[in-house]
Amino acid sequence: MACKRGALIVLEGVDKAGKTTQCKKLVQALQQSGSPAEMMRFPDRTTTIGQLISAYLEKKSDLEDHTVHLLFSANRWELVPLIKKKLEQGTTLVVDRYAFSGVAFTSAKPGFSLDWCKNPDVGLPKPDLVMFLKLSPAEAAQRGQFGEERYETSAFQKTVQQKFEHLMNDSSVNWQVIDASKSVDDVHEDITTHSLNTINTAQNLQLGELWK
Ligand code: TMP
Repeated sequence: MACKRGALIVLEGVDKAGKTTQCKKLVQALQQSGSPAEMMRFPDRTTTIGQLISAYLEKKSDLEDHTVHLLFSANRWELVPLIKKKLEQGTTLVVDRYAFSGVAFTSAKPGFSLDWCKNPDVGLPKPDLVMFLKLSPAEAAQRGQFGEERYETSAFQKTVQQKFEHLMNDSSVNWQVIDASKSVDDVHEDITTHSLNTINTAQNLQLGELWK
């Protein structure tokens, strides 16, 4: 019998919401419960395209806004064969940011429509679950200073949050809003519950195509 496929689980949210911590904790918890799981993150800064993106984020290089948007998308597409292979092998993928960050961040720049931003990512493997770690800008500010990278200012993050809110109105995507103001352990519990439910249902469903 063919093995049951893994689930594609994405964590999204503005900076300081705790995405990376929660992704790591979720992968660990799934592995400990005997469910094969691995973490991925976007941008994946290890590839050639990822290195261009990384230099841009670190402000070591400048890229035209449309160009960098397409590079972020290409960075996802170049990993699609690996994503599909892992899922088919029964491994659940826990992904730190995906196309939703791509759209929210670029459309927060002047002159970019949501539609234009979504287009290059249409047809990517569709996540079985997207959890949005919700944290108000005031609570994010209490968690300390932003870093030095591009986009790490409270004014820009506020616009990004509004764009995410817009994307969450799309019922073709399985969004779950998680209250990220709770303790790390409480957030982890919420995330694990949603993920286990999703892993159960996804194994009998075909992988979908995003925004198609
Ligand atoms: P991170 O590596 O700390 O998650 O940061 C990546 C930065 O890149 C973050 O500010 C969000 C931004 N970003 C985009 O602008 N477009 C994208 O497609 C992705 C995945 C991230």
